[in-house]
Amino acid sequence: MKVYLETFGCQMNELDSELVRGHLLSLGYRFTSSPDEASVVLFNTCSVREQAESKAYSRIGIVGKRKAAGEQIILGVLGCMAERDGADMLRRYPQVDLLCGPGELDKLPMLIDNVRRTEGIRARSLPSTDRVALAGNKSRRSATLAAAEDSLEALDLGRAFEPRGGGSDRSAYVRITRGCNKFCTYCVVPYTRGAEVHRPPDHIVDECKRLADAGVIEVTLVGQTVNHYVYVHGSATAVDGSEAPQVGPGPAAFTAAGLARLRTGGSKVTTFAGLLHRIHEQVPSIQRLRFVTSYPRDFGDEVLDVLGACPRICRYLHAPAQSGSNRILKLMNRGYTVEEYREFIDRVLAKLPDASIAGDIIVGFPTETDEDFEATVALVRAVPFKNNFIFKYSPRPGTTAIERFADDVPTEVKKLRNNQLLAIQSEVSADVHKRWVGQAVQVLVEGPSRASQDVGESASDLTWGATDGPGVVSAPNSPVEAGARTVGLRVLAGQPAGPTRRAPGTAPGATQLVGRTSGDLITVFDCPAGRSITDLIGTIVTVHVTGHGSLILQGSLV
Ligand code: 5AD
Ligand code: SF4
Repeated sequence: MKVYLETFGCQMNELDSELVRGHLLSLGYRFTSSPDEASVVLFNTCSVREQAESKAYSRIGIVGKRKAAGEQIILGVLGCMAERDGADMLRRYPQVDLLCGPGELDKLPMLIDNVRRTEGIRARSLPSTDRVALAGNKSRRSATLAAAEDSLEALDLGRAFEPRGGGSDRSAYVRITRGCNKFCTYCVVPYTRGAEVHRPPDHIVDECKRLADAGVIEVTLVGQTVNHYVYVHGSATAVDGSEAPQVGPGPAAFTAAGLARLRTGGSKVTTFAGLLHRIHEQVPSIQRLRFVTSYPRDFGDEVLDVLGACPRICRYLHAPAQSGSNRILKLMNRGYTVEEYREFIDRVLAKLPDASIAGDIIVGFPTETDEDFEATVALVRAVPFKNNFIFKYSPRPGTTAIERFADDVPTEVKKLRNNQLLAIQSEVSADVHKRWVGQAVQVLVEGPSRASQDVGESASDLTWGATDGPGVVSAPNSPVEAGARTVGLRVLAGQPAGPTRRAPGTAPGATQLVGRTSGDLITVFDCPAGRSITDLIGTIVTVHVTGHGSLILQGSLV
């Protein structure tokens, strides 16, 4: 059976899709990049903003039309929408055969099998309540997560890393935590992905080693708030006595007193800094170790010291500020003030002057005034953000914000603020990129750039999009059209390699290559005559930077 799997949303979803793909491949399923060829169509969905959901619904609609025309397709909705909409989606979209939330992805093969075996019954139009039962039930997720006895762990552990050819083989995600306990008022994640669960360090290190053995040189550790990773050894064990995932302690643990409490009775604790250091020391063939996303609170000096001491850990922080107004930050329940955020960034830059800082901002949060927005503008101007993902507030069912506040900032005002902030961010980004001109940078080569003819033409040559959610860039001519928040090499995976249109300054006939610096700056350069493109892809090369755009460095291979 051929499977088409499309992923919406964040890195967490990308990783989930990769694991699902590996699991299904090991069971004999084959994948296709064309939905028209597939007999199983799976959408791994995102609920973070309404727009991402609308996009998935439109895809579901297209498959519905094909099914109505008589095509035999199994349609599965995975991820956060399956968790959030549940039975309601099955009632409204009868073409959906199965739902599988992020906490039950290990069950997906069984759910597909159920659909196949019950095709006859379903054809006689089973009531949607019964189809929910066939499609798995939600109680499983909360029950297992509450006990921190997480069979999802098996999915991560059983990961089959299959080289697919091309640059994407050199780069992988590794999960360190699942879920989130922070309950920012606008966010669905704590509801769709459940409580924060931290994986045992041994499992994480083993996974990194296996990936490195398979040729991976760049690992991105992922979690909703990676710096809140903390594992108390000896407090959660599996039946066979080995360490098991455990529920995170929550923000209170990150005070000196809180950490001391975790260590009472002589318990050994692995902190995020300890985990980074251990991976760096024990898996030296990983040349780039990155992590996303950091919570701008409780980011101790210990982590910064590890970054400073370990050359293979990337000096790149994705630490979303969300707003520059203390009043809005409070309504968002972010747990820090703008002064604290700035103090954090100052501390980072004092210890790691070459660090790249990226973030997320929400405009148009309920009650946001011009004054609040100006405070956000001031923050964006004051911090050397290499880029910010800017989102218009989108009320999400089930969140505190939707219950507590009216969505009172008019759409037009949200759009205006969004565009203003994008323009300002573009200037800030250009300044950040300009600093690298004349320097040599290390670039992990991803592949040929696409439609690179605009590079360097104007300060706003590449504009980060605020429309489609994390991972999507709005500029049509961007060399990297998707996956802005996905790890570098994955960006161009699946795209045909080959000559691209030329950027100004590109030698006639030369192919322009794209990659990223360790600070995640997109860098383009010509492949010199006589050098093989395929040999360069997936390696780290030195590029002398000669020019820049607002979101791009341009240079030549040293
Ligand atoms: N509306 C708009 N943006 C949101 N985000 C999360 N929830 C919402 C929402 N309801 C943004 C935040 C977060 C990023 C992943 O998505 O900026 O950091
Ligand atoms: Fe959502 Fe806040 Fe958790 Fe991030 S930290 S996933 S914004 S609740």
